[in-house]
Amino acid sequence: MRFADDPFALVIFGATGDLTRRKLLPAVWSLYASRTLPEPFTVLAVSRTGLTDDEFRTRAREAIAEFGRMQPPSEHVWERFARSLHYLPGDPGRPELYPSIATRLAEIESARGGPRNRLFYCATPPSLYDDIIRHLGAAGLQDETSGWTRIVVEKPFGHDLESARGLNRLLATVFREDQVYRIDHYLGKETVQNILVFRFANGILEPVWNRNHVQHVQITVAETVGVETRGAYYEEAGALRDMVQNHMLQLLCLIAMEPPVTFEPGPVRDEKNKVMRALRPIDRAHVGDVALRAQYRAGFVGSKPVAGYREEKGVAPDSRTETWASLRLGVDSWRWAGVPFFLRTGKRLPKRVSEIAIRFHRTPHMIFRRAPAGVEPNWLVIRIQPDEGIALTVLAKTPGPEMRLEPVTLDFRYHEVFGGEPPEAYERLLLDAIHGDATLYARGDWVEHAWKALAPALDAWSTDGTSPIPTYEAGTWGPPEADAFIARDGAAWRVL
Ligand code: BG6
Repeated sequence: MRFADDPFALVIFGATGDLTRRKLLPAVWSLYASRTLPEPFTVLAVSRTGLTDDEFRTRAREAIAEFGRMQPPSEHVWERFARSLHYLPGDPGRPELYPSIATRLAEIESARGGPRNRLFYCATPPSLYDDIIRHLGAAGLQDETSGWTRIVVEKPFGHDLESARGLNRLLATVFREDQVYRIDHYLGKETVQNILVFRFANGILEPVWNRNHVQHVQITVAETVGVETRGAYYEEAGALRDMVQNHMLQLLCLIAMEPPVTFEPGPVRDEKNKVMRALRPIDRAHVGDVALRAQYRAGFVGSKPVAGYREEKGVAPDSRTETWASLRLGVDSWRWAGVPFFLRTGKRLPKRVSEIAIRFHRTPHMIFRRAPAGVEPNWLVIRIQPDEGIALTVLAKTPGPEMRLEPVTLDFRYHEVFGGEPPEAYERLLLDAIHGDATLYARGDWVEHAWKALAPALDAWSTDGTSPIPTYEAGTWGPPEADAFIARDGAAWRVL
């Protein structure tokens, strides 16, 4: 049964937390202000902080003012929006909260009329997910007799393969798989969605999108931020869990997948799973050959002095958690055999930049003698953020009587063509969940594949308590070892 574009209620667990403040409330507001949110809608915000509806509305307004992409055009529009925000105090870990959620929702829904469509959003620390799922089930809140019911689960989805399996199993005891939305906000980024359009709506690319033409692929997600206030979480996670297991493997899948038969949740996610199954297993005995970790020391980002990771709040002074990870992955498929996929991510790097760069083979023979020595002309770069766009580097003749060549870039810049900033990922993903489209969400089996793929590295790193961890100065491009890591394949990291 589908009730798209009908009224709905968004129940947020973790209503006073960071994610709600920074992402969820601003996203709901932007959707409302741009008239894309189905109406009437209700936000029922749940957390342990005892607030009234009005107090929560004030907080929401502050959050939107601070983090929102769009500001209220007038008091009148804000007032109308704010009337849909409600607050319910309670501990999501306690079963007695759930009957009161049911009662409150029923009151709001009967006053408003229409189907009882409900989207539950787990924006709490992951340690509460089990309780939330169980208690929702016990209170019968997964029921769909009067409307649709869905649940969004934030990352981290498990801590390793076992815990992810456990969470999937628990979800399956309460919800059907098509009611479960495992969010990965990278999939909601405009440029990430554009990878699919770029690859599968342009006939010119398919013939070159394979081992015959691609020499290697580099995926970079670089951040200038450190661990901020999340030291305690990050200590348990590290870069591999925090960025690679989800966002970066998703990006790899979008680049490496075969064309799905249609742009629908089943076919798209089936193809991504095939990539995961083709990932060359990491050999537990030789993890160092394909995975490198490091940790930032004190340094400067821009001109600002910043502390080292071990000095951050919530971090152990002898911590061995990685804030940098680079990987060399292989996709053992007909299309990609022999093409290395290099991934690198780190905190406290000199620049915030995420991109996917495809390096094509050189021409088999260079007829121009004045070609710059060692030039690598053809890079196709998908810039995910900032300065969203797609660029192709080619060699061109410089003006003048001589045949001199120089690399030039054919550049599509999102903001030049479409104007403005792209919408926030959370806007798109929330709307998809409301419309029942899980194409840009991670499926349970994919998440398990991702944990399985990284398990040998996670295991090796967590059990090795002695060998020194490479370090890098904050504000530099990772540890010196990273260059040697990629040079073994005759490649070099792009200078960004
Ligand atoms: C989150 C990670 O998933 O993604 C953070 O937990 C990271 O550590 C963030 O900073 C990066 O997201 P974005 O959208 O800023 O690239």
